[in-house]
Amino acid sequence: PETGSLSIIVLGASGDLAKKKTFPALFNLYRQGFLPPDEVHIFGYARTKISDDDLRNRIRGYLINDASPLEDVSKFLQLIKYVSGSYDAAEGFQLLDKEIEKHEISKSSREGSSRRLFYLALPPSVYPSVCRMIRKYCMNKSDLGGWTRIVVEKPFGKDLDSAEQLSSQIGELFDEPQIYRIDHYLGKELVQNLLVLRFANRFFLPLWNRDNIDNVQIVFREDFGTEGRGGYFDEYGIIRDIIQNHLLQVLCLVAMEKPVSLKPEHIRDEKVKVLQSVLPIKDEEVVLGQYEGYRDDPTVPDHSNTPTFATVILRIHNERWEGVPFILKAGKALNSRKAEIRVQFKDVPGDIFKCQKQGRNEFVIRLQPSEAMYMKLTVKQPGLEMSTVQSELDLSYRQRYQGVTIPEAYERLILDTIRGDQQHFVRRDELKAAWEIFTPLLHRIDNGEMKPIPYQTGSRGPAEADELSAKAGYVQTHGY
Ligand code: BG6
Repeated sequence: PETGSLSIIVLGASGDLAKKKTFPALFNLYRQGFLPPDEVHIFGYARTKISDDDLRNRIRGYLINDASPLEDVSKFLQLIKYVSGSYDAAEGFQLLDKEIEKHEISKSSREGSSRRLFYLALPPSVYPSVCRMIRKYCMNKSDLGGWTRIVVEKPFGKDLDSAEQLSSQIGELFDEPQIYRIDHYLGKELVQNLLVLRFANRFFLPLWNRDNIDNVQIVFREDFGTEGRGGYFDEYGIIRDIIQNHLLQVLCLVAMEKPVSLKPEHIRDEKVKVLQSVLPIKDEEVVLGQYEGYRDDPTVPDHSNTPTFATVILRIHNERWEGVPFILKAGKALNSRKAEIRVQFKDVPGDIFKCQKQGRNEFVIRLQPSEAMYMKLTVKQPGLEMSTVQSELDLSYRQRYQGVTIPEAYERLILDTIRGDQQHFVRRDELKAAWEIFTPLLHRIDNGEMKPIPYQTGSRGPAEADELSAKAGYVQTHGY
């Protein structure tokens, strides 16, 4: 591993993302020894004029939990320094650079390079100016080597043009290997498991295609609304917030061909090919919804047309998947919180058991909560009669891996940025291909040409969405 000073700079330090995700992830890494205090310093940067202690106090509450002794929390907080400044003026960034340098000098008793990781927990509108300032004032200048990397969060733009514009603005300042576009779904345990599952198991290899698979569903449900984020959400909507990134990334891993190797570039090459093979979305294969009460949020306009729910069918035009619908479904304020992949197999031809009513073979990968994989299959009903019943082969992580803590997505991804591993980050051409798929639909929604159907809070979403999935071939199964 590299040694020398490591400065982690969280821009937008007092925002929601930083408090809820970035700092807790850094704290977990610290507790596990990945951020040695003799190398690491953390800087918070934001506009508000507050002291180091003010920032520490704001973060503290998000770090404390049963597993983290207060002593560790205090030691970690001491590593954090606060610098205030604007996002588009030299002054603040010059000051930030001085502070980083001071820290680097103080750690210079150690041999090694200087590493600077800038985490932009900020709205994308300020990315270009912040990147310009970093490039101009805050790059690593050590003769001993090291690096400067930047981490950016979605939304990366609002459509193809704005995303491309953002990419080229950032691309003029930093090289692709310096840019880490986070999609935190790529850090989830069972998403990372997809590659292993598909390419290390003989079971799946011959079955994973249009000859055997009838349809694939990738579903995200939340049982709460946009609470407190109405302003942000209304500008983006569920497709930009969840489907175009999180669910599409999962789709890539489910559908891609076997990469040449595990090298990040090889994996991302295959993901891009999947995205480029997606056919244009048909209006009749989209159902939009908006939960009742969404517009009560004072930050949401009274006549908002923004969907908080969507089911969209994607079709991949290649030899493996022609004719297999990929049903992507995401919604807020639904009846449960769950994210899962459901791979539904075709019926058995010439069935002699007349058991089709009981459901098909289905393979379910539950990303959250309670990570699990289970296969629904038909077995003989135990007993004297020859009848069949649907049952499960079940691998529940909590049972099977008792005592193993599954890392948080952000924790894992931030560690990757320090290690320089881009496998689980979105490459520029991948991002472009993802926007190409959804931009025409998004423009139609933005122009009011497609309207969301109202649905009740705490429901399954609009009934039309279930009808669309059924029409695409999905058969509701029993049991789990
Ligand atoms: C974020 C979205 O990217 O993902 C949120 O902006 C959403 O709207 C969140 O709530 C869901 O993440 P997770 O990890 O809780 O499924």
